[in-house]
Amino acid sequence: MDSPPRNPRRILAGGLAVLTFAAVATGGAMLALHLSASGAQAPEKPRTQPLQTQPPQTGAPPAPVADRAEDRQTVAARRYMVEHDLRGRDIKDPRVLEVMGRVPRHRFVPERLQKSAYADNPLPIGHGQTISQPYIVALMTQLVRPKAEGRALDIGTGSGYQAAVLAELCKDVYSIEIVKPLAEEAKQQLKDLGYKNVTVRHGDGYRGWPEHAPFDVIIVAAAPDHVPQPLVDQLAPGGRLVIPVGDRWQSLVMIERQKDGGLRRETIAGVMFVPMTGEAEEK
Ligand SMILES: C[S@@+](CC[C@H](N)C(=O)[O-])C[C@H]1O[C@@H](n2cnc3c(N)ncnc32)[C@H](O)[C@@H]1O
Repeated sequence: MDSPPRNPRRILAGGLAVLTFAAVATGGAMLALHLSASGAQAPEKPRTQPLQTQPPQTGAPPAPVADRAEDRQTVAARRYMVEHDLRGRDIKDPRVLEVMGRVPRHRFVPERLQKSAYADNPLPIGHGQTISQPYIVALMTQLVRPKAEGRALDIGTGSGYQAAVLAELCKDVYSIEIVKPLAEEAKQQLKDLGYKNVTVRHGDGYRGWPEHAPFDVIIVAAAPDHVPQPLVDQLAPGGRLVIPVGDRWQSLVMIERQKDGGLRRETIAGVMFVPMTGEAEEK
């Protein structure tokens, strides 16, 4: 990995460790300011019933069957992650917190790493790739403001964890992974966990998935050096795209399509993700 700047504050992790340039100068305050300015923390109205027991009337799918094999340590570790690493920072959307407190992240990492699944770190998932840090998954999910009737596109399926989180919050999730064995493993894991509203395909996500567009939510977990225009074109009115952009130094960028068709772009924080491969490298 590239050598980090002096005294970086490591706050997030996407593909690799994630650094916040803003935080280098401000000890993290600037990141918080960015988030407030974007309105990204504005919580959706909380559900009145837990997802497991009462699927909403809006057409969102019933949540998967709970993982009954979980032991107390797993439950406690996940609760600590939510309280300390998410709510304890700037994750305020109650629906994101509730879902992150329920989706079994340990089922998306290799068995030998399951004990570390709820630490706030990225973890290797094979093929030189990683599952993103819980905080960055929560942050990106909060930024896109998922809605129960919405349609989501997830670029860089990896382990399938981000897709599972989105599947709990949106009606349909379409996820693309460029590494074939990862796409196949994620597809199987999501199926085993009971997710019926996620479609995973192996391929290059640079051009999105026009057959299922427009999307209310697009989350990209690999960094190109520019925002792929096809992804912007596939944003529905009111939809939000969150993507890391850059080479050595990357910024997490949020693009919102306004109701009138215009675009609003906002830089959220400095981050470090794995590079987007495929067509993105040719441009
Ligand atoms: C940080 S990892 C993904 C984390 C994932 N969201 C998760 O929850 O585990 C980034 C993923 O993007 C994939 N990727 C890179 N370039 C891609 C592309 N052009 N299209 C689709 N996937 C890509 C990588 O193979 C890798 O699995």
